[in-house]
Amino acid sequence: MSLRIPFLELDRMHQSLRIELEAKFSDVLQTGIFSGGNEVDDFAHAVGRLLGVGHAIPCSNGTDALEMALKVVGVQPGDEVIVPALSWVSTAEAVVNMGAVPTFLDVDQNGLLDLNRLHEGISKRTKALVPVHLYGKMVDMQALTAVSRPLGLKVVEDAAQAFGSYQGGIPAGGWGDVGCYSFYPTKNLGALGEGGMMVTGDASLANHLSLLLNHGQPEKDVHLISGRNAKMDSLQAAFLQVKLNHFESMQQRRKALARIYLDRLKVQPLIRLPEGMLNADHNAHLFTIHCPKRNYLKAHLEDRGIGSAIHYPEILPNLPPFSDAGNYPMASYISQSTLSLPLHPYLTEEEVHTVCDAVLDFFARG
Ligand SMILES: Cc1ncc(COP(=O)(O)O)c(C=O)c1O
Repeated sequence: MSLRIPFLELDRMHQSLRIELEAKFSDVLQTGIFSGGNEVDDFAHAVGRLLGVGHAIPCSNGTDALEMALKVVGVQPGDEVIVPALSWVSTAEAVVNMGAVPTFLDVDQNGLLDLNRLHEGISKRTKALVPVHLYGKMVDMQALTAVSRPLGLKVVEDAAQAFGSYQGGIPAGGWGDVGCYSFYPTKNLGALGEGGMMVTGDASLANHLSLLLNHGQPEKDVHLISGRNAKMDSLQAAFLQVKLNHFESMQQRRKALARIYLDRLKVQPLIRLPEGMLNADHNAHLFTIHCPKRNYLKAHLEDRGIGSAIHYPEILPNLPPFSDAGNYPMASYISQSTLSLPLHPYLTEEEVHTVCDAVLDFFARG
């Protein structure tokens, strides 16, 4: 069924940027450089400048970024790595792919690693923590690093959803030993394909990451370590530069639309609204509510031609690759009650009001 307000409409965004994107494509075609080259370097510098981070290293995607980050901070097979019970699968997958063991911790009511439980998850084998800035909202990094630093634990931030969030002026991704972003097309800064990035303030980690993602090569035909091919495509780097130029205005638009949702939906006590969406440490990536009868609300919206999404319908410990029988009540509660409403910069205010009308009407009917 085609929806009149789909959850996401990337084609609308790309219509407005079409001329600029086509010009970039034409430039890259002209140069004939499709791997590496100036476009990737220019994108790295542009992001490094914008975020104020020492080293910004573009790569193939956010999952590879997490794996490489875990490797360079020294995660070895058999080590334990703390991850939240609620996230996209990559967070735990990256740990398992390194031969390490995810230690799942329950989340708080915002879906973020529950910092009050941090000590419960730390053992002698714990090597690192992977806080996830889920939905674009940052984990309290000051509080987290106050625990991790004295214990010598490494921190790899999963900032895949949080490009553009800042805490105390430091970007999501800039607090840990390494921060990882995804430029998957649906992200606030999305490529026209796959893309990712690692950021770090540590020059030797940056050097290790740059080697890892390109077969261990500092220069052609020199292979210092065993690496992989996880380079960012030149074309994606070129497109991402175009989109980076519009990032700030798109963020403002997201926040303005989020404000409408917050103002309209606050009258319904059965809905739990996202916290802190208008603050600097939330990039308004997803507008997630919690409510009873979530599946019925989703169906009701669909009947009205409105798309929505569930982030995420299953908690990580319950997925077959991880199967961990622990108890994660808050993560489980969120997975059963959460619904993400359409939020992207090309939504009109009228459309947001239409979604609000439909949501409020559902609860008014009882
Ligand atoms: C929280 C989280 N971690 C990791 C990733 C992985 O990023 P990618 O899809 O670029 O591999 C994503 C993206 O979907 C994500 O949302």
